Amino acid sequence: MQSLTLDSRSPEATQLLGSYLGGLAQKADVFLLTGELGTGKTCLVQGIARGLNVREYAFSPSFVILRQYHGRLPLYHIDFYRLDCVEEIADLGLDEYFHGDGVCAVEWAEKGLQVVPQDNLLITIHYVSLSQTGRSIRLTSQGERYDELMKQLKEQTELWPRSGKCRTVQDLKTGGQNRQ
Ligand SMILES: Nc1ncnc2c1ncn2[C@@H]1O[C@H](COP(=O)(O)OP(=O)(O)OP(=O)(O)O)[C@@H](O)[C@H]1O
Ligand SMILES: [Mg+2]
Repeated sequence: MQSLTLDSRSPEATQLLGSYLGGLAQKADVFLLTGELGTGKTCLVQGIARGLNVREYAFSPSFVILRQYHGRLPLYHIDFYRLDCVEEIADLGLDEYFHGDGVCAVEWAEKGLQVVPQDNLLITIHYVSLSQTGRSIRLTSQGERYDELMKQLKEQTELWPRSGKCRTVQDLKTGGQNRQ
């Protein structure tokens, strides 16, 4: 198990982090997203889509349970928000997606932890108090595949702010070289 906590100061930064994950993603990867309403789970999935070279842009509102996008690998964007109990989730028969040909990103995953794969990357987004656009994003890996993914992600985010040093998305992209 490995973990990493990164700051995000804008929707664009959250998407950029998502795009790193999409770039590193492999077939049958499972990304679980948790965090209060409106923290930026969908925003992160938009980044994952970008990292997978998905061209469509039609991100579902929470009433759609599963939507598929076509990229380097298929992206299955799943949202448990509207589901009331774990039995309801189990009845959806999502295993073919979890162990299939694409990447699954699951919002409100905490509602179905008993029925999602035990090996996964768990991403929890928190609001940062007194800031409209500040978020803290915690990633935790479970299982060998995700430990490896986390290792790669740590390399890619070496310059990412953990204590508010970089300010803009441009900084993140250039490793802070443009900082004034
Ligand atoms: N740092 C940030 N990261 C992500 N989103 C941010 C950030 N700052 C502000 N936002 C805004 O917060 C909102 C996040 O919305 P989004 O739909 O991604 O949240 P969500 O967690 O998926 O919500 P829900 O719980 O309804 O599914 C967007 O309006 C986005 O512009
Ligand atoms: Mg959402």
